[in-house]
Amino acid sequence: MTILALETSCDETAVAILRGRELAASEVASQIAEHAKFGGVVPEVASRNHLVHAPRLLDRVAREAKIDISQIDAFAATSGPGLASSLMIGASIAKGLAIGFGKPYLAINHLEGHLLSPFFGETEIRPNVSLIASGGHTMSILVRRLGDYEIIGRSVDDAAGEAFDKIAKLLGLGYPGGPEIEKHAIKGDPKRFDLPRSMPDSANFSFSGLKTAVRYLLPKLKGDYLADVCASVEEAIVDVLIRKAIAAAKKHAVDLVTISGGVSCNRTLRKQLDEACKRHRLEFKTAEPWLCTDNAAMIAFAAVLKLDNGASSNVTEEIDPNLALR
Ligand code: KG4
Ligand code: ZN
Repeated sequence: MTILALETSCDETAVAILRGRELAASEVASQIAEHAKFGGVVPEVASRNHLVHAPRLLDRVAREAKIDISQIDAFAATSGPGLASSLMIGASIAKGLAIGFGKPYLAINHLEGHLLSPFFGETEIRPNVSLIASGGHTMSILVRRLGDYEIIGRSVDDAAGEAFDKIAKLLGLGYPGGPEIEKHAIKGDPKRFDLPRSMPDSANFSFSGLKTAVRYLLPKLKGDYLADVCASVEEAIVDVLIRKAIAAAKKHAVDLVTISGGVSCNRTLRKQLDEACKRHRLEFKTAEPWLCTDNAAMIAFAAVLKLDNGASSNVTEEIDPNLALR
């Protein structure tokens, strides 16, 4: 079984091919440079770029996987959540290929792609508490099995990645802010600034207070403070994510914690969550960093698992910018 998936939910165009559960090819075309001059993602620009990049990447992954597109057994695409004008491009291409070659089409939830990514290549999805921390979402989910998800908590305002991005902007650093803050944090003292950890007793998350605290802190600072602010911000975000993941695992009597989404590339988060899980006798699992940020391999993997369960989607199924995780 060979499956091709497209991921175009936001500003990254991604195409991947899996043979069974094995990765045959995965390509991502970033549009960061195009959107940087506008200070954020412009949906119209993203959509036009997807149209340019997607056909090019389709050719490239087919070449890398040494397969003709006509030999692909099923086509998948992210159907939401995301930007409508971006989702439409990937989903339309996948549907067109599925119809043209008479093969199944699978509509995949972007969040399900993320939460399954720590199991990439495996056959079984074990019960776990899954933390998705990306630029658009921060949520903890009780995963009972493939397709059985219960949202335990979510951010009531900014997502963790959004907090990294907005604080990086306040500090005059580039986009995306997470890797920039991480780079400076390595040289900093995380204890120098005592930044807020909001909603400590709730399963939900809140990061906008942290951004406001940094906004008020910065004008008071003199001298060399960048690395210490970055380290303190990183620690504040990591601390909250870890505390809530462990609390959720204990509450729901689950012995496995997983993390996915762009923020889970953060090395301090990966290391400290691993250590915290060991202290609490929990197993910790995450994907390789390239699978944590937006990519099509995770969408193809979710599609393979669904196909194995006998599921497929109707080509009349519309994209849904607000698609919920069910
Ligand atoms: O999952 P993703 O690629 O896209 C969304 O679905 O949002 O996540 C992107 C987010 C950005 O906010 C970026 O700043 C953050 O992930 N990010 C990081 C790191 N790498 C990416 N945050 C903290 N540390 C990192 N190393
Ligand atoms: Zn994502």
